[in-house]
Amino acid sequence: MIKIKKSGANYSQISAIGEKIRKLEKSTGEEYLYLNQGVNAVVPIDLSKVIPLIDFNTREIQVYAPQKGRLQLKHAINKIYFQGTTSVDNILIDNGGMSGLDLVFQTAVFNKVFLPSFYWGSYVNILKIRNKSFDFYDDFWQLEENIEALKGNAVLICDPNNPLGNKYSDKELIKLISLLNDNQITVIIDSPYRGVFYSNDSFYAQIGNLANVIIVESFSKSIGLSGQRIGFVHSNSNELMNELGIRLMYASNGVNAFAQLLVEKLLTTKEGKEATKAFKDKTTKDILLNINYLRVKGFLAEEFYQDSHPKGIFVVVNLSADSLLKYHIAAIDLDFFTQKYKDKAVGRSRICVSVPHERLKYYFDKIGQ
Ligand SMILES: Cc1ncc(COP(=O)(O)O)c(C=O)c1O
Repeated sequence: MIKIKKSGANYSQISAIGEKIRKLEKSTGEEYLYLNQGVNAVVPIDLSKVIPLIDFNTREIQVYAPQKGRLQLKHAINKIYFQGTTSVDNILIDNGGMSGLDLVFQTAVFNKVFLPSFYWGSYVNILKIRNKSFDFYDDFWQLEENIEALKGNAVLICDPNNPLGNKYSDKELIKLISLLNDNQITVIIDSPYRGVFYSNDSFYAQIGNLANVIIVESFSKSIGLSGQRIGFVHSNSNELMNELGIRLMYASNGVNAFAQLLVEKLLTTKEGKEATKAFKDKTTKDILLNINYLRVKGFLAEEFYQDSHPKGIFVVVNLSADSLLKYHIAAIDLDFFTQKYKDKAVGRSRICVSVPHERLKYYFDKIGQ
């Protein structure tokens, strides 16, 4: 009998719900609209002109990538994400956001990490595995009011948020992040949905130089490549970056060379930039149409968008997952995403609005008919 140390973490219940719907689809022969997932599904990114730029018969594809990630990729990230304001030494290529968060949670020293009251469940699972404490915050105002008590802790910011899909203004965000930073509070920015809507903007350049800020980014959502398992961490603490690099090295022996080269081509070549732009343009256009449609129809749970606005790729609707299922729409009850506000989650569910507008409209038009 092998003795094991149990973490108390669980597999995501969201995947189990997806499996349940697929079985239902098979047994009934009827189609469902999958709004339970967290991936962009308006269109896939079209890589047909990018793949021919990659030569597979090369050492750079077939042999271990550099320990700290491909230099050319890090230069491209500096240029595009940081407007050239940082240094490649402040960037570590990792295996996506989950991997980056795990590295940061296990390495940075803090008493607790404060998560948004409505949060992505994996945060808690990673923290449980790493034996770290956590708590919740409701809004920016609460953080500002409790700045003294937060010293020695970390605050995680996810904007646009998963599950709410709400976005605060960058001005407010930068003000809050600077305040936390100036009070020696570690700020972990995990905003992988932001990149779907913004390109080449100055947000990361404005916060990247702050000593207590750690940025965890991913190419899973912004360019639709969750299958490639690639992202990066940024911090201007040499000590932290060095330790993260060592831990990543001995956890996975580096990051997949193909994924690195593919993202590099997307960020640096004419073909790659065109493919990225087309993907983002089509995706954001339908997300906007979907949110406006849900709002006009009165399905949006407006109470979550009072001091912020619904951006996507998720929104909360005022219908439960069970009631949506009757109309063949797969969603996740909001209850899954909060420990603190179960009462506010009743009769509400999270849906992914990154799906073709005509399809979403087709299914939602049937509600109440
Ligand atoms: C809020 C948030 N952060 C991070 C991630 C991590 O994604 P990945 O590991 O694919 O980069 C996800 C994925 O769903 C997410 O919703």
